[in-house]
Amino acid sequence: SAPGPAKSKVVKELESLDSKIRVCTACPLYKSRTLAVPGEGKFNSKVMIIGEAPGRNEDLTGRPFVGSSGKFLDHVLEGSEFDRSDFFITNICKCRPPSNRTPKTGEIETCTSLYLYRQIELINPRIIVLLGGVAVKKMLGKKTVEEARCGIVEHEGRKFLVTYHPAVRFYREELAEKIKEDFALLKSEMKKL
Ligand code: URA
Repeated sequence: SAPGPAKSKVVKELESLDSKIRVCTACPLYKSRTLAVPGEGKFNSKVMIIGEAPGRNEDLTGRPFVGSSGKFLDHVLEGSEFDRSDFFITNICKCRPPSNRTPKTGEIETCTSLYLYRQIELINPRIIVLLGGVAVKKMLGKKTVEEARCGIVEHEGRKFLVTYHPAVRFYREELAEKIKEDFALLKSEMKKL
């Protein structure tokens, strides 16, 4: 059969990273996970969205943000006339922590140094959206969402947009509105790119 178009080196490496993540045993989280969740979306996306770690539905499907937080994220994206397929969506940790506890420092260090930083290099997004405190702390240092959330911020040569984790919708409704404001800001920023 005729060969298809040659896959770019970037796509090949992202796919190989994806395969490695799915069988990873580098930290203890592999013991309790069902499926690892490498992330999904456009390999050449201008925007990368980074959450915390898979929850129950993500662990069962191997896909990021498909549970209740994901439904709210989709709703926010729709409000700014985005679609999740416009982005590459992933997490700080690729495996679900038991009972959705916060990932531990060692788990975060291992997972990001093996996978997330390489995904960022390969996708090379123009803007990285950080959802929630775990992503903000890891990517921007010790700041909280509250401190770091101030439009588009530059850090170590990359642009970030900090916002709340979509799960706030279930315990702090008023912050959910701020996520909508932040994605509206992303919309206007993207018109400039
Ligand atoms: N929460 C996250 O941080 N990531 C997911 O993929 C799902 C829920």
